[in-house]
Amino acid sequence: MHLIGELSAVLATALFIFALYWMNDPKTARHGVIAGIVGMTVAVVATWIQPEIIHHGWIIGAIALGFVVGVPLSRVPLTAVPQRTALSHAFGGLAAGLVGMAEFFLWKSGSSTVAMTPFRMSALGAEVILGFLTFTGSLMAAGKLQEVKWIPQRPVTYPGQNVVNIGVLLVAVGLGVAVVLNPGAAWAQQAFLAIAALALIFGVLLIVPIGGADMPTVISILNAYAGLSAVAMGFVLDSKLLVTAGALDGSSGLILSIIMCRAMNRSFTNVLFGAFGKAQPAAIKGEQKEWKQESVEGAAQLLEQARNVVIIPGYGMAVAQAQHKVRELYDALTKRGVTVKFAIHPVAGRMPGHMNVLLAEANIPYSALVEMDEINPEMPQTDIALVLGANDVVNPAARYNKGTPIYGMPIIDADKAKTVLAVKRSKNPGFAGIDNELYVGDNTWMLFGDAKAVLSDLVRQFGSGGIH
Ligand code: TAP
Repeated sequence: MHLIGELSAVLATALFIFALYWMNDPKTARHGVIAGIVGMTVAVVATWIQPEIIHHGWIIGAIALGFVVGVPLSRVPLTAVPQRTALSHAFGGLAAGLVGMAEFFLWKSGSSTVAMTPFRMSALGAEVILGFLTFTGSLMAAGKLQEVKWIPQRPVTYPGQNVVNIGVLLVAVGLGVAVVLNPGAAWAQQAFLAIAALALIFGVLLIVPIGGADMPTVISILNAYAGLSAVAMGFVLDSKLLVTAGALDGSSGLILSIIMCRAMNRSFTNVLFGAFGKAQPAAIKGEQKEWKQESVEGAAQLLEQARNVVIIPGYGMAVAQAQHKVRELYDALTKRGVTVKFAIHPVAGRMPGHMNVLLAEANIPYSALVEMDEINPEMPQTDIALVLGANDVVNPAARYNKGTPIYGMPIIDADKAKTVLAVKRSKNPGFAGIDNELYVGDNTWMLFGDAKAVLSDLVRQFGSGGIH
């Protein structure tokens, strides 16, 4: 049975590595999902059949509970995936924290025979601190992204905040060191409870000063913490599989956060301590300009006459679920000999690859999707830039306005196209809360309305009764 356990651990680890590797490419991503599911099933079954596992009733109950929570979570719309992911991390963190508490109190009560070496005790402390801070931090992050009323979206800051936050963490770590040195002391139990409480408080304090726009990055950082707490749990429980799975989870979360930070031209510390997303004054320079509006008929004619069109999708396309209408427009234009490309900004939408996933769902050829760095040199020769529910990722203020939270973030140079058509519902700003001069540019015409509705009208123009 022990050998089966060891072999299963190797198999599950290999499957997890392949799952991550296959996720690199949309063509193999489905295989990646299946490999992940099979790997997790192997891991659960191989652990379950070990002879020391005796409480089968509890395990069946826990699996049933997992389904009750997991199935509705799997049904959330794509736009809610970041907060759904945060909830998963919260559960992972809570599990690690509770397992750590149980291990310690079982050992204290004499029900556990394991030797509490300084290494194991350190791993326990790390597991409980990381697990509980991930739990409350992820819940707060999910609440911010879901725009839960009683959690402020904007960063809440006060003088000395970083000192207070780091102070709380240092006290928790200090108590942890004291318990590692004296695990048998009479006060160790109270100290351990205090460590857990401080970690729970720190998770909340960590998220309070961070604005909504930075939440996807923070969620990814919390992913790394959840992975690290699983590694610590693996050492405590002597489970190599937990160590490797946790390490994969932790490192992929860390790499993803670094990729996101780079794409937004932000540093790690800036995300965690920079209070990004504060309400900002308007960024439109010079005199207040007029918004010009175009009719759907007029826009259809402009598109028809263009030689090349670059479509720049953003969060609004995702909200409107307009990707299938985008495909119809793509077909109508390419049929008429217009070259159509899609400009993909790395942080368009609310999660990495958001636009790629949506456009792939509508079967838009992958070759038509062009990364930001490649499309930008082509923008000055582009006849029409069709901005579809994108805002921050095409805001020229990012180039020069130091006062704005998006300053320094690379953008898609929509404003350099000969003509810009922009689809959005109102004059409201984007996620970072700042105005966008692109919309009032000399060469920009607005098509106000829901992206799906506007595109339906546009596509209709190319059908019967409209442009042929
Ligand atoms: P946003 O700046 O959020 O702008 C989206 C625009 O879509 C809004 O101006 C909104 O205007 C419009 N919109 C909303 N619903 C619509 C609908 N049904 N039909 C038409 N338009 C609609 O989006 P973006 O340009 O994609 O930028 C993404 C933002 O998220 C950036 O600030 C980025 O830093 C942040 N972020 C993203 C990530 C990842 S990984 N993707 C990670 C961290 C942060 P109206 O309300 O007027 O319609």
